Amino acid sequence: MADPKDLSQFRVLITGLDAVCRPLIDHLLAKEQILEVSYDLEKLMELEVSPPPVMLIFGPPPEGVSLNETAQVARMQYQTQPIYFLTSIRTNFNRKDIQKNGFTDAFLIPIDLDTVKQTVKDELSKATKGAIRSYRQVQLVDIRPNETLAFDTYMYMPVNKKHIKMSVSGDDLDQSQYEKMTKSQMNSVHVTSDQIQNFYEFTAQKLVGLQKGDGLSETERKERMTGAIRNLMSSVFNDSSSDATIDAGRSIVTDCQEIVKTFIVSADEKNKWYEKMLAATGAESGSYNHAGNVATFGTLFSLAVGLGKADDIALAGLIHDMGLADVPADIQTKEESQRTKEEEEQYRKHVDHTLSIIKFRKMILPDSVTKAIAQHHERWSGTGYPRGLAGSRITIEAQILALANIFDHLTMTKEGKARMSPAKAFKLIYEENLNHSSTASFDLELLKKFLVVFPEES
Ligand SMILES: [Fe+2]
Ligand SMILES: [Fe+2]
Repeated sequence: MADPKDLSQFRVLITGLDAVCRPLIDHLLAKEQILEVSYDLEKLMELEVSPPPVMLIFGPPPEGVSLNETAQVARMQYQTQPIYFLTSIRTNFNRKDIQKNGFTDAFLIPIDLDTVKQTVKDELSKATKGAIRSYRQVQLVDIRPNETLAFDTYMYMPVNKKHIKMSVSGDDLDQSQYEKMTKSQMNSVHVTSDQIQNFYEFTAQKLVGLQKGDGLSETERKERMTGAIRNLMSSVFNDSSSDATIDAGRSIVTDCQEIVKTFIVSADEKNKWYEKMLAATGAESGSYNHAGNVATFGTLFSLAVGLGKADDIALAGLIHDMGLADVPADIQTKEESQRTKEEEEQYRKHVDHTLSIIKFRKMILPDSVTKAIAQHHERWSGTGYPRGLAGSRITIEAQILALANIFDHLTMTKEGKARMSPAKAFKLIYEENLNHSSTASFDLELLKKFLVVFPEES
């Protein structure tokens, strides 16, 4: 058998990738894993690759070639491999149509950046039978001490960027191991991609045993929500105007409301809002995660203090940063302090981009939703953007959305960075606001209301 560590045995066939997507592949794969060929379907039909590639990644076809032909030819040659479509060009990007044409999935950069990375890692992990590992983050709330786990758990060490094994499948997770996990300031542990199914089955069974609600673990709820948001966004980003009808716009809004109803707002949340918030924090970064988190936090904040329209905040949270699809990924990943003046200007335009997308796609939204989106980077002190609005000219929904936005940035886990606890994050926001009133983001009176509902951290 081939040595699973010999990467040249596991190649990825790529062709036609544009100038934005091509460097991404270099970033994701070792040189000897990349098999780049010209976008010529006849040549592709005759091409013999041995061993066969792990997966295929196509960019937009050249003039005169259709996506459908491409998929057919590729499928004829490679019956079992996944075939992906990757582009940074939004015109005619319709994920569902591309999948109908025979592609396994379609990705749009920059919004799908994290999804592409995870997908490529997962496929390689599958092909090498786990010798090249890929990890999935699962929420710690789904796992309790003194349980026999049906999967291995790992903890991510930001310092040396390594995953350390915490427990082995079949082990009882003892109290001290569990405490070690909770103390790590992460709200999550990691499971390898090839064992994620075991995790789902384990949590599903456990939840049935507890006769709890719909039998969805927090991890699964989050993953499903993220999937639903990704589906939603793929109908939003297409730049072709023939699809931009009022009917299409209405159906996007209905889809949003469906996500809000299914995953975010539920009736009993008023009492358990803090518990729910704790469960939701500590997710990995990523555009779709961010959208889902901001919607979730915003809703819970609104319910906790009884201010603003919770459903509208949820809806606004889902789509507030859509316009980032027009901002290059490298500007987005930089911290604000590291951006040049020009880059910051480009970044700030995402608010207007979002509003243009809403208008272009003819999405008719409640006024408070549009305002919350338009104002989510305004500050109480008038030092925000894009309009420099101050004080009560900023709506309560926008303030809560802004709070949820910052809260997610502080509490999410990023590679190389440990998560900040919710209480600590809130304290930081509060003190920043209190001590720098000339640049304050929030109404201090509003923050004081949260101070009352946030329990002290023990
Ligand atoms: Fe934003
Ligand atoms: Fe945001």
